[in-house]
Amino acid sequence: MKRLSIDMLVTAEELPRPLYHSSGTALFAKGEPLRVEHMELLREHRIEHVFELEEDDSLSQFIQNAKYLRIPAKDLMTTHKIAQPIYSADGKLLIQRDQNPTSQIKSTLVQQKIEEVVVYREGIKEDIALTIVAGKREIEKKHNRKMLAKMALKQAKMMLSPESISESTVDEALKNPAELVVKPEGESVDRLVSTAQKVRTDDDKKEYVEKYKDACLLTKQLYESIAKGELTDGARAMDVGKQAVYMMVDDKDLFCNLLNLSKSKGDFLIEHAVKTSFLATNIASALQFGEDQVLEVAVSALLADIGMMTIPTAIRLKDGPLTESERIKVKSHPAAGLSLLRKLQNFPKTALFTVYQHHERCNGTGYPKQLSGDKIHMYAKLVALADVYTALTSDRPYRQHIKPYDALEQLIKEASGKLFDPEIVKGQLKYLSLFPVGSFIELSNGQIARVISADKVNFARPVVQPLFDMKTKRPLPATLSIELARQPKIRVVRAIDHREIGAEDSSGF
Ligand SMILES: [Fe+2]
Repeated sequence: MKRLSIDMLVTAEELPRPLYHSSGTALFAKGEPLRVEHMELLREHRIEHVFELEEDDSLSQFIQNAKYLRIPAKDLMTTHKIAQPIYSADGKLLIQRDQNPTSQIKSTLVQQKIEEVVVYREGIKEDIALTIVAGKREIEKKHNRKMLAKMALKQAKMMLSPESISESTVDEALKNPAELVVKPEGESVDRLVSTAQKVRTDDDKKEYVEKYKDACLLTKQLYESIAKGELTDGARAMDVGKQAVYMMVDDKDLFCNLLNLSKSKGDFLIEHAVKTSFLATNIASALQFGEDQVLEVAVSALLADIGMMTIPTAIRLKDGPLTESERIKVKSHPAAGLSLLRKLQNFPKTALFTVYQHHERCNGTGYPKQLSGDKIHMYAKLVALADVYTALTSDRPYRQHIKPYDALEQLIKEASGKLFDPEIVKGQLKYLSLFPVGSFIELSNGQIARVISADKVNFARPVVQPLFDMKTKRPLPATLSIELARQPKIRVVRAIDHREIGAEDSSGF
């Protein structure tokens, strides 16, 4: 760990290593560009030094040393504040975290032969670090808004005149595979996505959940007005897509975590559409697509199932196997979606291909046309993957969800069996990791942890937050995180369903 004077920092350069505040709080992530506004923020809060993490340093050790002090129980004073709850040998809570020990509690600890306790170090200025992190988020948001404001749609290239496309024109276009292949174009959204290791407050989580609910409400209105033929301008759908892109750029991990929110009871069509769109936005960004391309994918995924509005609810929500005629009806939704959307103006042509083809599979086993390989639009392959992952990890009237890890494992197997495009699966792994963000795992060191961020190179070794130590049966400090890619000795033993440890799936991190 190197102590650096902030005068030594050079703005406009990407940081070779992460920088930390003396309280152990992460201020800047590796690869993050250091801006002039960041330096102003540090000076404004009278920060003179920061700490640089060397390759061999143990981050958790630094954080432990910065924030906590281990002292013999006999030296406890009433002015100390307990940083880790203390339990008796038979599991009874003796003192909670954040409490000051009374002299009676101190004697109990000594009687119980508790030798060491963990207390907060006095005088650490974590508040200042958190203020800087919050201020930095504002700077990032301003910067990203500036970049995204340039996200003008290329009207001439991708917009349609109304009713200019139909099933037969899609079929015609399919004869020219070049139209179906999409290469990254324009400024990559991935470069705008913040990589800062953020300290999230409950307000941050609440803000994202509220934005998700807003997106659901807007999507419900969109679905209803498009189905009734009342909406003729696609701009409203594009606005929902833009909001998704903003959310991802601001905090991709909190954005990924929204996929784990429990669905509310009743019709799942809208929540499925929003989650599929969010996941597809992530994958498109991980595949280095440009701004317009990511937005097209977001909107295509959002409206992929609009044709379901033509299917009776009794069939859509049927609690059991469908009859042959019901199955045929459900399989008509891609074509029904196409005919609804072709009435929209200011709407991307690629979305129509996607809606029509999102149930085709790479090996030709999908519908409606049993197309294979390069006859399927790239966006349709991408949305197909997001659609299936979202469905597998959500409860349905006739089955319960499966663990995010099991869903990904299934998709990887199916990609090797040519059902899905392996490159797109790889894109999903880059942002979600093999143990998806927000899910729970057991580590070989006996800890239960929540996945908080993916490692873009090593998909099986994400960044995790240890929550509970199974050996000591005690919760762990909420401030710890482990970059498994840097800790080869710690293995992931297994994925855990949130219900197994009594955790809330929607609590964020
Ligand atoms: Fe569908």
